Amino acid sequence: MAKITLSIIKADIGSIGGHIKPSQKLLQSVENYIKEKGKGLLIDYYVGHTGDDIAILSTHKRGTLDSKVHKLCWDAFVAGTKVAKAQGLYGAGQDLLKEGFTGNVKGMGPAVAELDIEERPAESFLMFAADKTEPGAYNLSLYLTFADPMHNAGLLLSPEIKKGFKFVIMDVAYTKADRFIELYTPENIYDIAVLLREPGRFVVESIWSRASKEQTASVSTTRLHNIAGKYVGKDDPVALIRTQKDFPATGEVLSPYTIGPYVAGFMRGSHIGPLMPVKKNSAISFFDGPPVVSCLGFSVKDGKLTEPADAFDHPYWDYVRHSVSRKAEEIRRQGFYGAAMLSMSELEYTGVVASLKELEKKFVIKKSK
Ligand code: 13P
Ligand code: 13P
Ligand code: MG
Ligand code: MG
Repeated sequence: MAKITLSIIKADIGSIGGHIKPSQKLLQSVENYIKEKGKGLLIDYYVGHTGDDIAILSTHKRGTLDSKVHKLCWDAFVAGTKVAKAQGLYGAGQDLLKEGFTGNVKGMGPAVAELDIEERPAESFLMFAADKTEPGAYNLSLYLTFADPMHNAGLLLSPEIKKGFKFVIMDVAYTKADRFIELYTPENIYDIAVLLREPGRFVVESIWSRASKEQTASVSTTRLHNIAGKYVGKDDPVALIRTQKDFPATGEVLSPYTIGPYVAGFMRGSHIGPLMPVKKNSAISFFDGPPVVSCLGFSVKDGKLTEPADAFDHPYWDYVRHSVSRKAEEIRRQGFYGAAMLSMSELEYTGVVASLKELEKKFVIKKSK
């Protein structure tokens, strides 16, 4: 069995007409860079976009957080940024927040999800990429897939899956270091729910099978404003999930996406909107949204990828997209008001802080007689 690494490194380095989608030329420039400079380093790769974010999926034998693989992707994004600037694309180089490359791209702006795996005879996995939302956007679907038999029939039907899973959950509000907790299903499901209900702070980072001890899921956990100190775009997250056998079936991973949960990230990263499952290489539209998520299935042998199977390209998901559009319409009807906009703590990196500061000066305390 081959030991390989699956890596997704994703960044917004510029897009057409605002935050809609990258140009063909930009996408091609990133792909060409990986194709040429990745020789001898990568076994295989796939480049695609979700909204305005370009994701590079690669397979290699170098392990997670490998400096050469990360530098290759970083340099591909730097080269792409030149193309984006030359074309006058909006937000050219938006997610490349640091100068100069140091070790790996974690904490530099791009989103990263990686898995070190022992390839199974039939290795299938899903590549998720979401735009106009945040890493916690996967919390609910991951919880339902791995802990709820209403979505995961394997919890009842498969003795391996019934053994449960280990959730590693990160506190992304803690900026000094990575702060984690490990919790186990089924015994800790309510504590897991207590944390995951707060997707702006607690984010599933990885999930592990208790039967095989192998990792099934890896999610990017970057918080851009924690790096930049101001609003610089949303932390549009990627995830990798291995499926079948000791892991949930592909359809069990997809099942919760029927809900279209309200998540953070609509317009200026400051509003709540429903998460819409979309086809590969989809653009962004209504109110710079709605928040979208794409999912591509792959099989892999000795690191060689098949072509992607577009998981949300099916008549069923057209129906879901309609019902999610209705949810978007409903929340947009209340504009900036109440639950439609993010809480003050989440808006703390935007201009609303300056307005509040000014208003504070005008508040008076009524003197009691
Ligand atoms: P097949 O019988 O088509 O392989 O499907 C098995 C399965 O478990 C699907 O969830
Ligand atoms: P991105 O983070 O996808 O660039 O979106 C930024 C934004 O503010 C859209 O309104
Ligand atoms: Mg953008
Ligand atoms: Mg984006």
